[in-house]
Amino acid sequence: MSHRRWHIGSLPRYRGARYGGPPGGPVLVALRQWLAERRARRLGQRFRSNHNSDALAAYSAMSPGIFRGINARQAWANWQVIPRCLHGRALARPLRVLDLACGDGASSRALAYHLPPGSQVIGLEYAHKLVHRARQQLPQYQSALPTTLHFQQASILEPFVDETGQPIANASVDWVTCCGALAHHFTPADINRIATECARVLQDGAWASVDARSTLTTDPVRQAFTHQGFTYTGEERSCLLDRYPLLCMRKHAKGFASSI
Ligand SMILES: C[S@@+](CC[C@H](N)C(=O)[O-])C[C@H]1O[C@@H](n2cnc3c(N)ncnc32)[C@H](O)[C@@H]1O
Repeated sequence: MSHRRWHIGSLPRYRGARYGGPPGGPVLVALRQWLAERRARRLGQRFRSNHNSDALAAYSAMSPGIFRGINARQAWANWQVIPRCLHGRALARPLRVLDLACGDGASSRALAYHLPPGSQVIGLEYAHKLVHRARQQLPQYQSALPTTLHFQQASILEPFVDETGQPIANASVDWVTCCGALAHHFTPADINRIATECARVLQDGAWASVDARSTLTTDPVRQAFTHQGFTYTGEERSCLLDRYPLLCMRKHAKGFASSI
């Protein structure tokens, strides 16, 4: 089996990866987010909670339009940081990828755009309206993508499911990503559950790129994944001002030669 790595940086599309992000530069994106957050607060939709049931109640009540606004910074960041994670780490062959807490599909689309051709992305999201919106937008994107995208309604605190809603088999996934969720909407106990499930579905030598509050060894996300036998190999951020890194955690490879 080939262990060649996927080098996105050598492709022109990495440099031009504004294709699927929200329109406007960082200032406009921040302004849009601020206005949408104000609207959400007025409607009593308090999504900034690390009690998952409170966050889920707020996201489930939210219209896709408000969600797009409050998620604007994250959607912008995804197009910068996701290719950085994949570059030089992902294998250069079709991959099976899970996007945890995918919202309206912004992170899944950034993944699908940058993965090796023939890859499959399954986005898991709890809020029905957001899953519906992600599926609705699919025809607009799918034909331009070299990969296949699916969205499934599910809580990531339950065993992960595939595009048909069936539990995902052990060691059958090549990459798991989670953007803008683990660091914000889960307690350390929840994060441990999610890390355990990531360890179950990922193959040896495969990767999880997951959002955290810091890269410190005391960070709950880093701790949970390390405890499950992942090795921290580095972090990626969308820009210098990005407070939340994506930690690149590699599941311990048994007999798998590593160049990283
Ligand atoms: C800030 S949004 C990030 C969305 C997406 N990952 C992105 O980068 O655009 C956080 C998302 O996590 C989802 N979420 C929170 N808890 C969840 C759970 N237990 N299962 C599935 N999704 C969850 C929310 O519904 C929300 O859509």
